[in-house]
Amino acid sequence: MEGSLGFLFLTFLIIPLPHFFIFCTGHTHSQVRCIDTERRALLTFKQHLIDPSNRLSSWTADGDCCHWVGVVCHNLTAHVHQLHLRTFPPPVWDDSMTDEQYWAQEEAYERSWFGGNYFENTLIPSWIFGLRNLVSLDLSYNDFQGPILVDLQNMTSLRHLDLSENHFNSSIPNWLYSFSHIEFLNLGSNNLQGTISSAIGNLTSAISIDLSYNQLGGKLPRSLGNLCNLREIIVSYNKWSQEISEILESLSGCVSNRLEILDLSYSQLHGHLMDELGGTISSAIGNLTSAISIDLSGNELGGKLPRSLGNLCNLREIRLSSNKWSQEISEILESLSGCLSDRLEILDLSESQLHGHLLDELGVFKNLIQLSFQDNSISGPIPVSLANLPSLTYLDFSNNHINGTLPQNFGQLKNLVKLVLRNNSISSPLPVSFGNLSSLTYLELRNNSISGPRPVSFGNLSSLTYLDLGNNSISGPRPVSFGNLSSLTYLDFECF
Ligand SMILES: *[C@@H]1O[C@H](CO)[C@@H](O)[C@H](O)[C@H]1NC(C)=O
Ligand SMILES: *[C@@H]1O[C@H](CO)[C@@H](O)[C@H](O)[C@H]1NC(C)=O
Ligand SMILES: *[C@@H]1O[C@H](CO)[C@@H](O)[C@H](O)[C@H]1NC(C)=O
Ligand SMILES: *[C@@H]1O[C@H](CO)[C@@H](O)[C@H](O)[C@H]1NC(C)=O
Ligand SMILES: *[C@@H]1O[C@H](CO)[C@@H](O)[C@H](O)[C@H]1NC(C)=O
Ligand SMILES: *[C@@H]1O[C@H](CO)[C@@H](O)[C@H](O)[C@H]1NC(C)=O
Ligand SMILES: *[C@@H]1O[C@H](CO)[C@@H](O)[C@H](O)[C@H]1NC(C)=O
Ligand SMILES: *[C@@H]1O[C@H](CO)[C@@H](O)[C@H](O)[C@H]1NC(C)=O
Ligand SMILES: *[C@@H]1O[C@H](CO)[C@@H](O)[C@H](O)[C@H]1NC(C)=O
Ligand SMILES: *[C@@H]1O[C@H](CO)[C@@H](O)[C@H](O)[C@H]1NC(C)=O
Ligand SMILES: *[C@@H]1O[C@H](CO)[C@@H](O)[C@H](O)[C@H]1NC(C)=O
Ligand SMILES: *[C@@H]1O[C@H](CO)[C@@H](O)[C@H](O)[C@H]1NC(C)=O
Repeated sequence: MEGSLGFLFLTFLIIPLPHFFIFCTGHTHSQVRCIDTERRALLTFKQHLIDPSNRLSSWTADGDCCHWVGVVCHNLTAHVHQLHLRTFPPPVWDDSMTDEQYWAQEEAYERSWFGGNYFENTLIPSWIFGLRNLVSLDLSYNDFQGPILVDLQNMTSLRHLDLSENHFNSSIPNWLYSFSHIEFLNLGSNNLQGTISSAIGNLTSAISIDLSYNQLGGKLPRSLGNLCNLREIIVSYNKWSQEISEILESLSGCVSNRLEILDLSYSQLHGHLMDELGGTISSAIGNLTSAISIDLSGNELGGKLPRSLGNLCNLREIRLSSNKWSQEISEILESLSGCLSDRLEILDLSESQLHGHLLDELGVFKNLIQLSFQDNSISGPIPVSLANLPSLTYLDFSNNHINGTLPQNFGQLKNLVKLVLRNNSISSPLPVSFGNLSSLTYLELRNNSISGPRPVSFGNLSSLTYLDLGNNSISGPRPVSFGNLSSLTYLDFECF
């Protein structure tokens, strides 16, 4: 009914419309004009936004709302279909920024907020009333406060709902679980309370669910495992206080062979993936055959890692840091060396109570980009095979007991950007081949037992911005070539 009315409306518009008019409005891509009730709903909504930098200046009383900033109408029915009122994200601090630059960006971000005082007004009109046909609503990064708006409950056509990065502090309202068309649901980075209802199993169209960075607790409902279309579950930084095996069991439903991204990091999870006898408590993790990224870091997980992980042939990222695996590193690398080793790009096992030696098997992870083993008790030398990882970009082995010499072929790591070996027992002079690490910007070798002269080849490291060789036994005159290190913004003067 609506569709055919919309179509009549469209033909009515197109046929009598003289060409010059279309040209003059500059909107030749779309001839639809917005529906009056929806335009008024949006104008009412605008009155309740703060908009200090007037981002919604195109939202004028007599305008065509289909051409307003952030509004997308259906090209046939003219219904407002998508509302994109996301604010650009706040600045992320990085070393290349001055304080002034950072605060200028932060201020610009805050000036762009639509939220702020909106919910202090208790007489919220049902601004959304006319927008039942909305399929996409993005209100992210806006500093909205208070409960998730009950006004949303009639928007049952929504396929994409993004309320992330606000301060919504209610529980997840029950009506949300009846949004059977929802595909992308992002409620991350709010202050949501309470538990997740098992009715979440009703969101059968869901492809991605992000509930991370909230105050949610209780258990993750088993019904999640029955969402056969789900490819992303991001529920990190909550308080699930649950056994990991129980969660993995519940994901063994039809979701298990579709799921690509599983983020359970920093969620107060405990338990083991394998029992004491080496039996796998749950084969479910090995059944996540489509998994691309698994993050279990920042929990209380212990025991050994199951060999079945090594059979996840699509896995590109696995983060297991800040747990209590207390296993031999070589045993872990061995169990991961199945088909997983062909694709893996990110391996984070930092702060995991690991011990033992690194062996040449490290060289099988041909596509590694990031290798993080810092804050463990790994001992012995760095294997020569490490230099055969051509994509390696970030390498952090700091705070271990690594000793011996650095491999002479280290300079083959042409893509290495950051190398951190701080606080180990590496001895002997630095290999000459270091001068070939042409991408290196960050080098920290502080507190080892490195001896010998300051290497002339360092003059080649023209991208270097951070250099710390302090508390070693490096000596001798400063080579002329060091004058070439023109990008340096930090260096430990002990070595100069
Ligand atoms: C309307 O949009 C759909 C999908 O975006 C597109 O396939 C279709 O060709 C468009 N129709 C018209 C009349 O522009
Ligand atoms: C939610 O936030 C509002 C506004 O900041 C506050 O008045 C209210 O007490 C909060 N509710 C809860 C449950 O924290
Ligand atoms: C939602 O729909 C119900 C009936 O379907 C109606 O009574 C109510 O006013 C609507 N609420 C809003 C906020 O539009
Ligand atoms: C979930 O679906 C069941 C059965 O289809 C239904 O009885 C229940 O009311 C639904 N729950 C919600 C919150 O929509
Ligand atoms: C994992 O998959 C295998 C083979 O498909 C199946 O026999 C087993 O029951 C699955 N495990 C779980 C926990 O679902
Ligand atoms: C350096 O390593 C030793 C053990 O090798 C450890 O006890 C110490 O805490 C580490 N220092 C820092 C700053 O992490
Ligand atoms: C490295 O440390 C191990 C003990 O962890 C020791 O047996 C070995 O001799 C050391 N190697 C060197 C070159 O210092
Ligand atoms: C540096 O790389 C070049 C080209 O790949 C190579 O010929 C040279 O031997 C390398 N130098 C050292 C010291 O490894
Ligand atoms: C310095 O870099 C050049 C070109 O990249 C390379 O040919 C040379 O071998 C490097 N020198 C050292 C000492 O690594
Ligand atoms: C430096 O290393 C020594 C052992 O080699 C360790 O005792 C000391 O704590 C380390 N210092 C720092 C600041 O990490
Ligand atoms: C410097 O190294 C020596 C010897 O390894 C160690 O005893 C000392 O604690 C280190 N100093 C600092 C500040 O790390
Ligand atoms: C310093 O850089 C210049 C230009 O890149 C190069 O020609 C010269 O050989 C370098 N000097 C040393 C000592 O590396």
